[in-house]
Amino acid sequence: MNKVITLHNPPVNALSFKYSEKILKEIQDAENDATVTSVTITGANGFFSAGVDVNDFQKVWDPSGTTVRDIIEAIERSDKIFIAAIDGIALGGALELALACDRRVATPRSKLGLPEIKLGLIPGAGGTQRLPRLIAPQEALSMMLKGETVSADRALELGLIDEIVEDLSSFLAEGAERRSPEQCRRRRVSEMNVQLPATAQAFALPYIIAEAHKTVPPEESGGLAAHKLIDAVQAAFELPFARGLAREYRLFDELVASTPSLALRHLFFAERELSKIPGLPPAEPLEIKTAGVIGGGTMGTGIAITFANAGIPVTIVEPNADQIGKSRQTIFGMFMHQVKRGRMTQEEAWKRGQSIAFSDDYSAVADCDLVIEAVFENMAVKKEVFGKLDPIVKTGAILASNTSTLDIDEMAAVTKRPGQFLGLHFFAPANIMKLLEIVRGKETSAQTLATAFKLAKQLRKVAVLSANAFGFIGNRMFFEYTREAVALAEEGVPPARIDAAMKKFGMAMGPFATFDLSGIDVFWHVAQGRPDLELARTPILDRLYEQKRLGQKTGKGFYKYAEGSREAVRDEEIEELFAELAKAAGVKQNPDVSDDEIARRIVGALIKSGEEILRDGVALRPGDIDIVWIYGYGFPPYRGGPMFYSQEELAHA
Ligand code: NAI
Repeated sequence: MNKVITLHNPPVNALSFKYSEKILKEIQDAENDATVTSVTITGANGFFSAGVDVNDFQKVWDPSGTTVRDIIEAIERSDKIFIAAIDGIALGGALELALACDRRVATPRSKLGLPEIKLGLIPGAGGTQRLPRLIAPQEALSMMLKGETVSADRALELGLIDEIVEDLSSFLAEGAERRSPEQCRRRRVSEMNVQLPATAQAFALPYIIAEAHKTVPPEESGGLAAHKLIDAVQAAFELPFARGLAREYRLFDELVASTPSLALRHLFFAERELSKIPGLPPAEPLEIKTAGVIGGGTMGTGIAITFANAGIPVTIVEPNADQIGKSRQTIFGMFMHQVKRGRMTQEEAWKRGQSIAFSDDYSAVADCDLVIEAVFENMAVKKEVFGKLDPIVKTGAILASNTSTLDIDEMAAVTKRPGQFLGLHFFAPANIMKLLEIVRGKETSAQTLATAFKLAKQLRKVAVLSANAFGFIGNRMFFEYTREAVALAEEGVPPARIDAAMKKFGMAMGPFATFDLSGIDVFWHVAQGRPDLELARTPILDRLYEQKRLGQKTGKGFYKYAEGSREAVRDEEIEELFAELAKAAGVKQNPDVSDDEIARRIVGALIKSGEEILRDGVALRPGDIDIVWIYGYGFPPYRGGPMFYSQEELAHA
């Protein structure tokens, strides 16, 4: 007789310690029942299982609790035939459970993967030992290093599953008697040998290992888990199963307690907290079926593409005909690029392009459910825009500003709908950057906020709530971060060295390269509006602005750029200018600082600003700040964001 064991632990059938105990008991019962010849493990509610509960990884993997390892060991000890019948996702520990079975079948819509690397871990229930035995070893390694899921079709091609079944319920009802002898054969992956690649030579496996180490970042720069994963797979190549498994367990247990994994798990949980707003009454979000964007410049165009990509038709209102032409060209160019790279069909590109309309008349957005303003960063201009828009746009629709620094309440006050008013701060390029700051005005309603969070999901953005305060979360901290970088340059450290030190720390880009990318004029304008804000101790920004050294767009900024090139070239003129201004301002020179000291000072300024933001209630939680810096400013995820990093530093100080 075949016994069916169903993983049923809503919402995603996670294999928590507690739930694993129940499954283990069911397997033991089957083992003790002589009438049972085979056991089929399946899922429920459209999922096989999302794997081990990430909550159970916190800090240490409790050796006294029942884990998926115990379930797998019970399967290994048993003489019965085990079948995994997968429908929906089978991830991490759940796929490892399936790998321990004799056969695996999956429905066409299933997705299978070992994503542990994304949390700075490796599969820790035999995955690194079984997968390279079951499928081509280089495919196994690549699948685990990327942590991506594969479709049922691809899984069949790889040999990860034995069969695709259209109708899982009739498969489950079939019973052991009706299966063919081949289907009932014992076929434990742990007893298989790693297969050499087809073109194999004796050195093929060591070669795969050596090459793999070269393709991942160094251990100290986010590559720790990747190198350990390769070590574990090497054990699968070289050692008997039991010894390889012991090595995997040891490497996994080390990684669970490692800082990069703690950092990535912190971000995993922080992301899930983002939309929880203490004290906010529950509200039903509105559905945004159509959107309007005012201003077809850099941001307006990017925002429109984001909506088109999410299947929401959008209308751009732009008074300048030349700018409409440029915006159209950007949109067309972007979609064509996707077609060329095989990411989109010609038809899809055409359809998305057609879903973006242009007008020079505000009445074109009268019926939209949401209108986002992205005109010049100037309060008078923005107020004029909202003053005109408010009477035209239908009642109940939401109005939003994409301002980077200005007061949302001041804008809301010129409308008759402050409850349906908020800031939606996208980051450049808006169609690529994942971060969206949702800025809550003093009268923004619960429903407007709920709508914004739901919309962010549809737009595939990560949304963080900010109070209405200068620079919100990200830019206020960014000003402090760049101010410290400029201070170091004023003390005689070349900007190129400062950038190199910050990249070494793990930032995607150094602060001066970021200045040049965003445009020095942007910062200069901010400084004009906020004379109280100290962006530098010397008039360096004024001088660059006067000299039209605005960054990449003028071919010169803190670096120089060859015509049409984005490659930043060190410019000694800048170092001389810093020296001259520092001398005039009496700034003490101290050019001999170490890379660590550079990073310590700049990140220190960032952390201090983050603490102020928390104290002032601009951000809800330290984790929210971390998410802003990871998704908006290229802070290294393996350091967990500035606030997590500061706690870790304190712990090790
Ligand atoms: P931009 O100068 O590229 O575009 C502004 C556009 O608005 C221009 O095409 C202009 O013709 C149009 N415009 C001006 N007055 C208008 C009016 N009354 N009605 C309709 N259109 C009008 O500026 P960008 O960079 O796109 O910035 C727009 C807003 O987004 C600003 O508030 C800026 O602070 C904010 N922002 C900018 C970011 C960036 O990195 N560029 C990042 C995030 C926010």
